[in-house]
Order: sequence, then C-alpha cells, then structure tokens
Amino acid sequence: MSDALNANAKAKIAVLVSGGGTNLQALIDAEKSGILKSGTIRLVISNRKDAYALERAAKAGIEAFALTKKSCGGQEGFERRLIEEIDSRGIDLIILAGFMSILSEDFTRHFDHRIINVHPALIPSFCGKGFYGLLVHEAALEKGVKVTGATVHFVNEIPDGGEIIMQKAVEVKEGDTPETLQRRVMEEAEWIILPASAEKICAEMCQKGRSV
Ligand code: GAR
Repeated sequence: MSDALNANAKAKIAVLVSGGGTNLQALIDAEKSGILKSGTIRLVISNRKDAYALERAAKAGIEAFALTKKSCGGQEGFERRLIEEIDSRGIDLIILAGFMSILSEDFTRHFDHRIINVHPALIPSFCGKGFYGLLVHEAALEKGVKVTGATVHFVNEIPDGGEIIMQKAVEVKEGDTPETLQRRVMEEAEWIILPASAEKICAEMCQKGRSV
C-alpha cells in the first residue's frame, strides 16, 4: 500500500511500452510543461529490449528496463513480474503507450480502472485483436473512411473494450499512406489526448485521496 493520495500529492505513473515511444515522450514533455501536473512518471517497462522508448526514459532520468515474456518463462510469469515491479513502487496509474502485448483478465482485474491505453482509431472502429500500430491505419485507408482519430480508454479484459475517456477526430487526406496517416493521428490526436487523459485520471485519483 502506498501513502494515500491527497491534494498535495501526485499520482505515481508507470508507462508500458514496446517501440519508438513517441507517446511516452508526449507524457514526459507534458510533465515538464505542467500539462500533466497531478501525476509523475516513476517507471517505464518495455516488453522489448530494443525499444527506443527505453532510451527516451533514460534521457529523462526515469527508471526504465525491459521485461520479456521469454525472460519470465511465458505470459503468466511476465504478468507476475509486472505486478511485482509495479506494486512494489506504489504505482497508482498504468499507461499503455504503444504497448503491443495483450494482458490477461487476472492482470486487468488486479488494476481495475487503473490502466489506460491509447488506440490509434476512433473506437469502436478498427479496434480489438489484430488492430495495432500501422495495421490500424492500413485498415482505415482500405475502408476509405474520411475521418479517423485516436481514443484513450480504460483497459479491461476485452481488447480495446474498456470505458472511453477521450477521443479526437483527425481528417484523412487524399493520397495518405498508412505512414502519413499514422503521423497525423499521432500529432493531432494521440500526443494531445494521452497526456490530457493522464492528467484527468491522476487529478481524479488525487481528489478521491485514493491509495494503492
Ligand atoms: C501508437 O500509434 C499507438 O497508438 C499504437 O502504437 C503506436 C505506438 O507508437 N498503439 C496500438 O496500436 C495499441 N493497440 P509510439 O511507440 O511512438 O508511442
């Protein structure tokens, strides 16, 4: 159990990543600029050793390391280690920022309403199992949608199925490739609504004086 949060305390955040970490960077920048003022990033864990996100965390002076399923002997061991690392630091909120691994019901129940995820589409479009990263934008272009966007939502046992916290729409332009669309969705939506959602949830946690 960590100390109960109060009006002066900040919620402790762990960010789980797998890749480039531009969303992690947006969170780090938001904490520096004061957009994220009710929470503080204390831990970054990657499920890939080569994730550039780990370097971003190190540059910002945040504790960061990789934990792979292989090194933990599979999904169960991986989640057990994650829980140990997160709980032992008194983390209040877990943010999935480009974390490309599905978490079990046991895990999501353990952190009920304490895990949020950013998804690069307007849920319920282009979401669920198999829709991640560039594949989401490929599917949106294939369908010919004129508007897409990003969603931040709570994480429960259904992939991309938890309660929606924020969404932002982004225009699809003629001649877009999955890469150009991905970049616009990040710039115009993800990097804005992820820090804003983190602040909203952390502020609510502080107000409620919630303890872990
Ligand atoms: C982001 O677009 C994020 O929304 C997406 O992967 C990218 C990670 O980029 N996440 C998912 O598709 C999860 N279902 P980043 O590592 O630069 O933040």
